[in-house]
Amino acid sequence: MRIMRHLPDPVLRQKAKRVRAIDSSIQQLIDDMVETMQQANGVGLAAPQVGVPLRVIVLQMPGEEPIVIINPKMVKRAGEREVTEGCLSVPGYAGEIKRSISVTVKGQGRQGKAIRLKGTGLMAQALEHELDHLKGILYIDHIESQDKLHKIEPEAEDGRM
Ligand code: NI
Repeated sequence: MRIMRHLPDPVLRQKAKRVRAIDSSIQQLIDDMVETMQQANGVGLAAPQVGVPLRVIVLQMPGEEPIVIINPKMVKRAGEREVTEGCLSVPGYAGEIKRSISVTVKGQGRQGKAIRLKGTGLMAQALEHELDHLKGILYIDHIESQDKLHKIEPEAEDGRM
C-alpha cells in the first residue's frame, strides 16, 4: 500500500518520467500500486497518484485480472462519448466529460516485454485517464461547465481511477 495523493498535491501536476530500468524498485512500486488501487475499489491508478512521477499505470476492470503498463504511449483513439468519471486523487466528486470509445496503447509489460493493448468502453476511458495523469492532467481539466461536476457520497466512490 502507498498513500494516495490528492489534489492539490503538486506531484499530480508533474510530467512523469520514462522508466529506464525495470528493477526491483519498479516491481515493488507495481505491487504497491495494484494493492492501493484494489483497496480503494478503483479501476485504474497512475504512479504519480502515489507520489512517484514515473510512467507506470495499472488497471483492473471489474472481474478481471490487473494489467500493468510501463512507459505507455497512446497510438490510436477513435470515437467519442460522454462518460461519468471520478478520480482517486479528487475524492468526493464525479463529473461528465468526453472520452474516446476505443483507444490503442503500446508500452511494456511488468517484465519489460513490448505490449500493445486495445481497449473499448470503460477500459478505453481508464487508459485515457491514466495516460492523462502521466502528463499532469486531471479529468476535471476536461470539464466543460460547472454543472458537469458534482459532489458524490463516499458509497458512490467505487470505480474511480
Ligand atoms: Ni485519476
